[in-house]
Amino acid sequence: MPSKLLSPAELLDTAVTLAHGAGAILLEGLTYIRAGNHAHVRYKSSPGDVVTEYDQRSEAFIVSELRRRYPDHAIVGEEGGAYDPQAAETQPPRYEWQIDPLDGTTNFSHGFGLFCVSIGLLIDGIPVLGAVYNPAADELYAAAHGLGATCNGKPIHVSRVNSLQQALLITGFPYDYAHNPRNNLRAFDAFNRRCQAVRRIGSAALDLCFVAAGQIDGYWEANVKAYDIAAGIAIVREAGGLVTDSAGEDAMLSRGEIVASNGLLQPAMLDVLREVHLSEAAHVVMR
Ligand code: IPD
Ligand code: CA
Ligand code: CA
Repeated sequence: MPSKLLSPAELLDTAVTLAHGAGAILLEGLTYIRAGNHAHVRYKSSPGDVVTEYDQRSEAFIVSELRRRYPDHAIVGEEGGAYDPQAAETQPPRYEWQIDPLDGTTNFSHGFGLFCVSIGLLIDGIPVLGAVYNPAADELYAAAHGLGATCNGKPIHVSRVNSLQQALLITGFPYDYAHNPRNNLRAFDAFNRRCQAVRRIGSAALDLCFVAAGQIDGYWEANVKAYDIAAGIAIVREAGGLVTDSAGEDAMLSRGEIVASNGLLQPAMLDVLREVHLSEAAHVVMR
């Protein structure tokens, strides 16, 4: 059955409402944890990769609301809330929601307030809309194609820094850092030598929103999933920034890697990553 055509404003309104609703669940969890309680449920890939009951409750809330409102949309949720009403059909779904119910779980599980809910929408595979809510800071970032990007309703824009030397960058490291030969350490070192500073806060969705808001000039990361970055990509683009993979192409979601910036820094960031990849390849050949 073809999906009913929905306006970007209507879809964004849903994403914002659900991000606020899920954020309230996470805020309840933060209060519980800050009172000295443990919300930890289990480890996933490594001791740094935890899931809490709040990841699960947040996702259950978002998925059930989306299914009620848009029964013909596909949904991918990090904690297993996948739903594809067209799975039996050959065509990929027109509308696909990408949900990270708690991005920055490690921070959250320590009571550290840098985490968020991230709700992104792909239309025909392209990230067109996103709502990212950090309930601890009460900051809601939102954007939809053609409508601009906002933080708590106020327009945001990427920075104007045009040299790497003056840039503040942000990145992340994979959970399998100890065993992954492409664990981002070489790139981190290469950027750290060339820019003003590199930060790592542990939430890919917030990293992208900080670029959109012009507080951070550029972000790169590998080993990310579509639900980590779909919302943030739409927000950075609507804030005037550029988002590609490390080859400068548009395959962020399928390759699981991303470079986002104010646009002015994109060529320099891609150059650094190209250099790093070449030196990594040479290193592998020499071993
Ligand atoms: C993680 C965060 C982190 C990034 C990891 C993600 P999670 O998500 O976004 O910043 O470096 O790649 O997996 O596990 O907290 O939802
Ligand atoms: Ca995540
Ligand atoms: Ca998560």
